[in-house]
Amino acid sequence: MENQYIIKGGNSLHGEVTISGAKNAALGILAAAIMADDTVVIDNLPDVRDINVLLETIQGIGATVNRINSHVVEINGSTISNFTIDSDSIRKIRASYYLLGALLGKYAKATVALPGGCDIGSRPIDQHLKGFRALGATVNIERGMIDTQAEHLAGNHIFLDVVSVGATINIMLASCMAEGRTVIENAAKEPHIVDVANFLNSMGADIKGAGTDKIRIKGVEKLHASEYSIIPDQIEAGTFMVAAAATKGNVLIKNVIPKHLEAISGKLIEIGATVEEFDDAIRVSASERLSHTQIKTLPYPGFPTDMQPQIATLLALSKGTSTVTESIFENRFKYVDELTRMGASIKVEGNVAIIEGVNELSGTSLSAPDLRAGAALVVAGLVADGYTTIDSIQYIERGYECFESKMNALGAVMEKIPVDDERAIQKFKLKVG
Ligand code: EPZ
Repeated sequence: MENQYIIKGGNSLHGEVTISGAKNAALGILAAAIMADDTVVIDNLPDVRDINVLLETIQGIGATVNRINSHVVEINGSTISNFTIDSDSIRKIRASYYLLGALLGKYAKATVALPGGCDIGSRPIDQHLKGFRALGATVNIERGMIDTQAEHLAGNHIFLDVVSVGATINIMLASCMAEGRTVIENAAKEPHIVDVANFLNSMGADIKGAGTDKIRIKGVEKLHASEYSIIPDQIEAGTFMVAAAATKGNVLIKNVIPKHLEAISGKLIEIGATVEEFDDAIRVSASERLSHTQIKTLPYPGFPTDMQPQIATLLALSKGTSTVTESIFENRFKYVDELTRMGASIKVEGNVAIIEGVNELSGTSLSAPDLRAGAALVVAGLVADGYTTIDSIQYIERGYECFESKMNALGAVMEKIPVDDERAIQKFKLKVG
């Protein structure tokens, strides 16, 4: 049964929240884990839908997957017997493409359904395929399947035409057991690239330079057992930072790497919020209406596109005129119509949203267009006057673990109820008054 969120807005968030492991790092790491023939233990795994789909898929091709608990999994890739991946669920997630790189790198062959993921614009994978070909693989796309194979994978010098997180990780996967040296130039520098590289190195790979735009990989013969803990999720942390500021609250966000949040912290400070950094926590507070700014999304260390809808929601409630330029994905403003229905004043021209801050938003029925936009609508609902319902929350559940319970522990008033269940809505309203 499909669920929706119902939110009663108007409460400031206060208290402490603990951030889960990084979804986008975990997706690369789970794919990488199948490349060893020993047992690999992965900790701090976020318990979210995309991760669970990828784990089922890995199990489906014969790997041994032992879920110790919701945050720890043991994977052994020695039992893999199937190199074709095609299921309805895998078609819905983006990271299915990492199984191409991992299987190609380990077995020199893979056939995987074309990736899905959030509909935020055209999402080509030409750079991934260019990388595989440069390593000596053939790549064919037929009837929605990508088929890649190689007689022999050999390192090469690969210059990415666009800075791509997915292509950088995929080429690391495909090349870490190839013969000789691979260099990836114009590589993405996101924290999750470094995390996947660190994990591969913990299994015996030889990858240097991750986190810079030039990654050097020396092929090794095989990968071995490892125990690894995934970094905290930069975007989940950023979402709680924005929610704290938008509700004029005061929240200590724990289990974060403050360095990864600098672009977000910088903008929050610029518009008047208070941000205090600790070793592995960050406190965000605001006591009055914040100010306006200009933001442009950029690859790391720039402002992350995955935080664009959330910060735009905050700016929709701030003083003055802000602009938000989306330079990574072409269709990431679909939430604007929803915010407008709540009373926001936002005009989209090409890849720029021009935001005239309003004093308040009013609750209404909304639909989450994608993962981060869905999270932004939750933030809007927390601030809005009255009740907000948000359907299509399966998008939000792709990437936020226990979103409603983490929010409620901070003083939010929201619940997950079945869609179209008028009685559940009335019951919620009676309960919260
Ligand atoms: C990853 O997507 C993330 N997904 C996205 O997170 C995130 O928004 C994005 O990186 C940017 O940070 C996963 O990690 C599973 P890209 P990805 O390749 O790898 C163009 C979320 O909300 N491009 O870095 O698909 C592309 O069109 C999701 O958690 C090519 O032209 O992003 C885009 O304009 C949404 N050819 C730009 O590069 C290629 O071969 C960056 O894309 C690949 C990408």
